[in-house]
Amino acid sequence: MIETNTSPAADAGPTALAVSLRGVTKAYDNGVEALGPLDLAVRKGEFVSLLGPSGCGKSTALRLIAGLAAPSSGTVRVARHEGEAQPGHGIGFVFQEPTLMPWASVRENVRLPLKLGGVARAEARARVDAALASVGLADFADAFPRELSGGMKMRVSLARALVTDPDILLMDEPFAALDEITRFRLNNDLLALWRNLRKTVIFVTHSVFESVYLSQRVVVMTARPGRIQADLRIETVEPRAEEFRTSAAYSDYCRKVSAALAPSYSGQSLL
Ligand SMILES: Nc1ncnc2c1ncn2[C@@H]1O[C@H](COP(=O)(O)OP(=O)(O)OP(=O)(O)O)[C@@H](O)[C@H]1O
Ligand SMILES: [Mg+2]
Repeated sequence: MIETNTSPAADAGPTALAVSLRGVTKAYDNGVEALGPLDLAVRKGEFVSLLGPSGCGKSTALRLIAGLAAPSSGTVRVARHEGEAQPGHGIGFVFQEPTLMPWASVRENVRLPLKLGGVARAEARARVDAALASVGLADFADAFPRELSGGMKMRVSLARALVTDPDILLMDEPFAALDEITRFRLNNDLLALWRNLRKTVIFVTHSVFESVYLSQRVVVMTARPGRIQADLRIETVEPRAEEFRTSAAYSDYCRKVSAALAPSYSGQSLL
């Protein structure tokens, strides 16, 4: 059951929920039990990472939150503004692959969600340019995807997710294919965006280090069907920056998260 929650009570106060999953399970038609039962509550403006072994249902959980799939049982609630009744509204999705249209310019790629939403070209132009500027690509609006590096393509994908000004940003291992330096840079850019735009972010990653660096909370999932194994709060001096990566507190948190993750991998061969 997918619900749109627009009641004033649920919107009130700093602890209002952006996303709430209660007893959610997902079994696919082929009989694979991918998820759950999963209970997860994410507050508005929170940055939460989902961490867990391959196949534990992380992408499935994001798809359920985005309304791209329906749960087999349980409730998925997503807070939205009035007038945004359709599933997917108010949500930006960044996939693992940038999935850009190779024949279209960067500007046209980022305009796509607005075009699909019927926004007039003139109005879209300003919004696309603002989204591109927010990810540092103002000078590349007329470039084509083949002319961009992997990191730049990912920035385009992020701009495309931001262009509709969603309240909630779902990110599915967006930086996994990038080299480490580019990934670190994009981590910092994402944190700056999150601070400025105050969006709710649910970020899927396989990297303990990345999850601790970015998130206020790391949610560790069990092996399939994915449930919550641990829910750890990462507290440090904000705004966090590169110094955090080399701090003792950072190593400590990474150790704790790794320890919480270990049981999810037990019995799994790495070969
Ligand atoms: N459309 C589908 N039809 C059938 N089974 C599916 C479908 N999508 C995913 N699955 C199965 O559901 C399980 C969870 O998949 P999911 O993609 O959510 O995992 P994940 O945690 O995102 O994994 P990874 O870290 O490798 O991306 C897997 O066993 C997968 O094979
Ligand atoms: Mg996945």
